[in-house]
Amino acid sequence: MSSPNKSALPTHILDEIRELPARYPQPRSAVMPALDLAQEELGHLTPEAMSEVAEALSLDPGYVEGVATFYSLFHHQPIGKHRFYVCTNLSCMLRGANEVVDHLKQAIGVERSDQVSSDGLFSFEEVECLGACEYAPMMRLDHRYFYDLNDQKVDALVAERRGKPVVTAEKPKPKRVPRKKPGG
Ligand code: FES
Repeated sequence: MSSPNKSALPTHILDEIRELPARYPQPRSAVMPALDLAQEELGHLTPEAMSEVAEALSLDPGYVEGVATFYSLFHHQPIGKHRFYVCTNLSCMLRGANEVVDHLKQAIGVERSDQVSSDGLFSFEEVECLGACEYAPMMRLDHRYFYDLNDQKVDALVAERRGKPVVTAEKPKPKRVPRKKPGG
């Protein structure tokens, strides 16, 4: 049982978690949104947070931990504020997903998927098929999907989240050439 002084999750989050089971036919179904709330609050799931979720939902701590460790959307180490989930499954791999990953690592300044960029903004992971193979290579960034990736698109997404002006890869409009006056 957690003591109030050592609580990982603030009271308002715990209150929100306690209200979740009423929304589901099976109260156990509240475990996923509850873990999601905890992760959103802390950035990743600590053992203390998981046991507080279990206590708030009156569930077995082992069950909650089992759910939290089964799904890759739950993180147990600190992650960047923005998380890139790059699909490296077959269709995306054949269309350059590995190059996308290499470029992304360079753009955010990390070498491995267990690292967070020095500004705390970014981390990434390679994931299985996200169901958008026709737009390969693709990835999820936070809660949005991005398709037909190339180096410029990756750079733009990183720059946008750093709050820098985005340089688009669009072709510049052709300049209008002034017409020569007849006889000029
Ligand atoms: S293989 Fe990448 S979305 Fe399906």
